[in-house]
Amino acid sequence: MAKLSIIDKFHHWRRKRRWNKQYKKGKWDYLNNEREAVRYNKIVEYIKTYGTSKPVILDLGAGEAVLNERLNADDYTFFYNVDYSSASIEKAEEKGIANTKNLVADIHTYDPEETFDIIVFNEAFYYVHDHLKHEVLDRFTDKLSPKGVLITSIYKEGQNCWDIIDASPKLQQLNFETVNTDRESTYWKVGVYKRA
Ligand SMILES: C[S@@+](CC[C@H](N)C(=O)[O-])C[C@H]1O[C@@H](n2cnc3c(N)ncnc32)[C@H](O)[C@@H]1O
Repeated sequence: MAKLSIIDKFHHWRRKRRWNKQYKKGKWDYLNNEREAVRYNKIVEYIKTYGTSKPVILDLGAGEAVLNERLNADDYTFFYNVDYSSASIEKAEEKGIANTKNLVADIHTYDPEETFDIIVFNEAFYYVHDHLKHEVLDRFTDKLSPKGVLITSIYKEGQNCWDIIDASPKLQQLNFETVNTDRESTYWKVGVYKRA
């Protein structure tokens, strides 16, 4: 995170601490509710439509592994849940999901050696620091296997997110949809991309 100023690093540390407190208090339990389900369902649909069969999946900013739970164990070969909140990863670990690894790591610096068939930013890309969004997107695009796809879900309009993703010379859009709910103000945009 060399590109962040000391002040940005401080805010980053404080935000991580806040996530941990919120997960411990159960503030994010609502992600399991029915209104949120439509977003996970769309991602699952994209995984099944555009992914290879039995993919290896990396979920960045995976929280408590809710997406992982929405898949059946035989839908994938291996599922990696990565989040910098140790409290969320502890909750993911307690679920004991088969063929899954839960890892505490920061998207800003996480640089796995392996490649993945599906990489997901599910309500996580907008938390990447603005100065680092291009670099992070490029780093993970390079981690896609030859037939790999990147799936992104972003709440509402996602300022400073879609313009970066859509302008990436390394990515080509395969689909993009708005997922609506029974509440007009609650919607997500979900896109799926392959390497250009
Ligand atoms: C709104 S929650 C979404 C959780 C999960 N993707 C879901 O939809 O169920 C955003 C998650 O991003 C994680 N996050 C934010 N910044 C991160 C970073 N720099 N590295 C790793 N995880 C991060 C937070 O800890 C949180 O779990």
